[in-house]
Amino acid sequence: MKRELVLEMVRVTEAAAVNCAPWIGRGKKLEADEAATSAMRTLLDTLPMEGTVVIGEGEMDAAPMLYIGERLGTGAPPGIDIAVDPLEGTNILACGAWNALCAVAAGPAGTLLHAPDMYMEKLAVGPLCRGRVDIRHPLAENLHAVAQATSKDVSEVVVAILERPRHEQIIHQIRQVGARVKLLSDGDLVGALSTAFEQLGVDILLGTGGSPEGVLAAAGLRCLGGDLQGRLMPDTEEQKQRCWAMGIDPDRILSIDDLVSGDDVIFAATGVTDGELLHGVKYAASNRVRTHSLVMRAKTGTIRFIETIHMVSRTFH
Ligand code: FBP
Repeated sequence: MKRELVLEMVRVTEAAAVNCAPWIGRGKKLEADEAATSAMRTLLDTLPMEGTVVIGEGEMDAAPMLYIGERLGTGAPPGIDIAVDPLEGTNILACGAWNALCAVAAGPAGTLLHAPDMYMEKLAVGPLCRGRVDIRHPLAENLHAVAQATSKDVSEVVVAILERPRHEQIIHQIRQVGARVKLLSDGDLVGALSTAFEQLGVDILLGTGGSPEGVLAAAGLRCLGGDLQGRLMPDTEEQKQRCWAMGIDPDRILSIDDLVSGDDVIFAATGVTDGELLHGVKYAASNRVRTHSLVMRAKTGTIRFIETIHMVSRTFH
């Protein structure tokens, strides 16, 4: 893929962030999601590519924009797979809390997992722990492996995990092993990426969250040299059939190579609300809006943090 696409992808996530930011703290997550999605779609559709959404806002009959299989771009080659999460953390944004962001990943056609929108069990780690953990291994074994790989005592290992009733048992087990948990109200994409930024103090992400967030996190961690292993969690027979129809054995463990194959992948994200990884959208005088983004390319290993000042005509809701 052309490297110019790197900057184009940041423009896409910046536009989504600027467009949904007016909804921060207003308790209207659907409106915010729609604002992010429509801006992201508009920008993606202008790019010189034959793009296909492989994972996104849901199935065609349920999502009007950025649905799985939607074609985007000018239609000129190359063929590009696109994974989108126009607004990661709709609840977070609605209550003005931390870590809402807009994210996109792109790779040559056939490189990003074309997966149904359902839950995915995930294990994500940063570069130090890559090759040292396995989602099939017992929890204690993985936590001790993380401790060893990071030269920590297991009591210093921090596990990010969504705070959900379905995770009560695993949270209990993590504490029994002696490690700590960092409970996330939402946003396991940031939780997964955090494992690759030592200063953020997260060693491993565990638990079940959305599959789009799983593919996006895998793309991000591919650029960062980390690892993500997953397993789709269909909870109805229909969802299982959907997996088979997309060519995925629902019982199969998905390695980072299954989620994102090859290293010609780009990941971009722009903060909407302030977070550990990215600052949120900030308003200034004279119609100026400031955004903070992360954009990475696995091929070169370049990690860019970009601060941008936009001139916008503001809309007030
Ligand atoms: P949304 O922005 O789509 O609401 O996703 C937020 C999120 O917390 C994701 O980060 C996570 O993967 C998923 O929801 C978990 O789903 P659930 O809230 O159903 O447990």
